[in-house]
Amino acid sequence: MRGGWKIVVPSYSNQGWQAYWKEGRLGSCVPENEETASEIQSRWVELLSDLSDGARVLDVATGNGILLGHAEMAAKRNGKHYALTGVDLAPIDPARYVPDLSEGLQEARFLGGIPAERLPFEEGDFDVILSQYGLEYADLGKALDEIKRVLVRSGRLIWLAHCEGSEVVDQNLDQDAQISLLLAPGGPIDAMTGLLAKLEKGKRSVHAETKLRVALSEAEKYCGEHPPANVVREVCTIIADTASRYQAYRLQDLKQMVMDSRKRLLAHRQRINDLLAAVLRPDDIEFVRVQLAGPAWTSVSFSEMCVGVDSLPIGLLICARRTGS
Ligand SMILES: C[S@@+](CC[C@H](N)C(=O)[O-])C[C@H]1O[C@@H](n2cnc3c(N)ncnc32)[C@H](O)[C@@H]1O
Repeated sequence: MRGGWKIVVPSYSNQGWQAYWKEGRLGSCVPENEETASEIQSRWVELLSDLSDGARVLDVATGNGILLGHAEMAAKRNGKHYALTGVDLAPIDPARYVPDLSEGLQEARFLGGIPAERLPFEEGDFDVILSQYGLEYADLGKALDEIKRVLVRSGRLIWLAHCEGSEVVDQNLDQDAQISLLLAPGGPIDAMTGLLAKLEKGKRSVHAETKLRVALSEAEKYCGEHPPANVVREVCTIIADTASRYQAYRLQDLKQMVMDSRKRLLAHRQRINDLLAAVLRPDDIEFVRVQLAGPAWTSVSFSEMCVGVDSLPIGLLICARRTGS
């Protein structure tokens, strides 16, 4: 690893991810359907099974290390051991924040505050570099240069990137619409805030109660028209429940609960916006193609990864091998 390391913060804040990894989730963009999640895991295990024993694996934009978990499983199944490293721009620390972290991930090296554009490693430090929905957040030119530098000659790059038309991107667009409804002026969060403000002044207000009822019924209509609308459903169920039994709670606690919900939704919306900005558009894909067409790369492939009974695309799988040049 390089000495004298200085963090270079890219132009955007990465705000949405600052607290996310502290909530203990192993990965982001994990499908709720367990079969699909397990199919994705199997794909990665398959992709990572033929690495040599002792392979040095780096996961760029690792989050809490879900991909390294798949690498660990691939190694174990084949009686091997991989040396796992994960870096992320966010202040990650899976050993601290993830309950029941696997033994392999407890041994892995995780470094937070590390941009893909400036990796704190020496030339050829890794045999394999992975990324799942990560590298595309970075400045592609700089990040690919860094990957080329720290990948050993004949080492492999395996990168699953967000791309247009992917199911993951579509789901995020859908969640964005749900969050907009919840946070809209006159929407459920706003109406509940208004009701609590009235109650704080010691008055019940028929007007504020009616506004909340209208907001909740609009939200219900939305859920009927756009199933499953889980985000709207979950937030509105809590609001409706607490509003109907508000005397059972301290007003301060209710206000805090609404403020926390708003904060969580705003952070979620920020992550969605960042994701949408990171999606590889045709121009970006062309740029990556040109970079990987250079003399430093060989065996380059681009293919959609599709999963589930309907074989829905979940991203663009980009693979390449470092040449000797
Ligand atoms: C969609 S998450 C993917 C995390 C993980 N790979 C997974 O599959 O769960 C994107 C991650 O990219 C990280 N990120 C964003 N910009 C980055 C950059 N320039 N360098 C390194 N990591 C970055 C974020 O902090 C976030 O953890």
